[in-house]
Amino acid sequence: MDYDIANPELAAEGARRIAWAGRRMPVLASLRERYQEEKPFVGMRFGACMHVTTETANLMLTLRAGGGEVSLCASNPLSTQDDVAAALVAEGIPVNAIRGEDTETYYQHLQTVLDTEPTITMDDGADLVTLLHTERTEITPLASMEETTTGVIRLRAMEAEGELRFPVVAVNDSDTKHLFDNRHGTGQSSLDGVLRSTNMLIAGRTVVVVGYGDCGQGVAQRADGLGAKVVVVEVDAVRALSAAMEGYQVMTATDAAAVGDLFITVTGNMHVLREEHFAVMKDGAILSNAGHFDVEIDLKRLGELAVENRSLRENLDEFVLEDGRRILVLAEGRLVNLAAAEGHPADVMDMSFANQALAAEWILENRGELEAKVYRLPAYLDQQVAGLKLESLGAGLEILTPEQESYLESWRHGT
Ligand SMILES: NC(=O)c1ccc[n+]([C@@H]2O[C@H](COP(=O)([O-])OP(=O)(O)OC[C@H]3O[C@@H](n4cnc5c(N)ncnc54)[C@H](O)[C@@H]3O)[C@@H](O)[C@H]2O)c1
Repeated sequence: MDYDIANPELAAEGARRIAWAGRRMPVLASLRERYQEEKPFVGMRFGACMHVTTETANLMLTLRAGGGEVSLCASNPLSTQDDVAAALVAEGIPVNAIRGEDTETYYQHLQTVLDTEPTITMDDGADLVTLLHTERTEITPLASMEETTTGVIRLRAMEAEGELRFPVVAVNDSDTKHLFDNRHGTGQSSLDGVLRSTNMLIAGRTVVVVGYGDCGQGVAQRADGLGAKVVVVEVDAVRALSAAMEGYQVMTATDAAAVGDLFITVTGNMHVLREEHFAVMKDGAILSNAGHFDVEIDLKRLGELAVENRSLRENLDEFVLEDGRRILVLAEGRLVNLAAAEGHPADVMDMSFANQALAAEWILENRGELEAKVYRLPAYLDQQVAGLKLESLGAGLEILTPEQESYLESWRHGT
């Protein structure tokens, strides 16, 4: 088994934490039970580039229960939980991921996963697919599956340019993924990352959320719940208006820069906070990012502007500017919820990863018919995942009466 992890001795702790996450993933567990019987993935090799967390471990174990072979590397150098990596290796699943690995090692690890010649690849940010279109064009998987918005954006760009070589399922775009994972998962866990790295009181502070998509809406809602004055920065007028009608203040980035105590960027775009914003920020302003890549804050420029730069505590760095103002940055501008906390809670990853497993089944069912396009999973799978989740929550789901069904299908009823 070809693996590269920080410390195999952490396996027991990792196994305990994986089991705890598994207890809060009932939808995935129900799939695992079925896969154990049906073995739909026999002969399949899964190559996954995802955050190496307890929830991902449960997904890997589920695919293996279905008869698949699995190989895993990290989709972010700072999000790996080394104990989880060790536990998976102890289970016989090769993992190539070490928390804090440098960029060269990160890519070496991706290459090791591709060396297994996967039949299905799984990405969180499209790094594996990108390699399969640049350096590793000798490998053509049946299809790939993409977990996050930024990855889907990259894949759609490849499709539009006619570059995409094989089918891809945009798992992110399933309603039971982005409406819950992005909103509630990123919302809660980003604040968790901020709290763990600063231990600050949010109540009464001005929290600036840059980007009001699924993730930003969740972050704003949670910051609001903790008593913050929430300011939203958006470039999309409809989304900005929706933030305004939620009762948040909506400002340009420059206006928000001057009033914010804590900034959370979550746009999937680059340099949304940059020199002109650093220039007007308050002394002690705290900057963090929950978007996929560490490009949302122009940290290179901040480093150049700083006369001094020091680490204050884990995941908290201070940049002192020439005029004496201090700007603080969390987790080196990488995903704050994964680098400074544990990522999304298992309860919500349950649905995201049930969608991943169902996407793999869907790919096999439609094998030979899929083109080199970006696909969404069919809506009935969303209903299935949501139904199972509701059941696990003990919630009741109303059913249409035959009379109501026919009423909704008919155009004959009027005023
Ligand atoms: N931290 C996590 O665990 C996690 C989880 C899911 C998604 N993500 C990532 O978070 C990012 C956002 O995801 P999403 O699903 O909310 O995407 P989205 O497309 O729904 O929302 C992004 C929003 O940012 C806005 N935006 C773009 N450029 C901007 C700018 N310069 N200033 C202000 N607003 C701007 C867009 O108009 C859009 O409304 C992506 O990179 C995604 O991959 C992170």
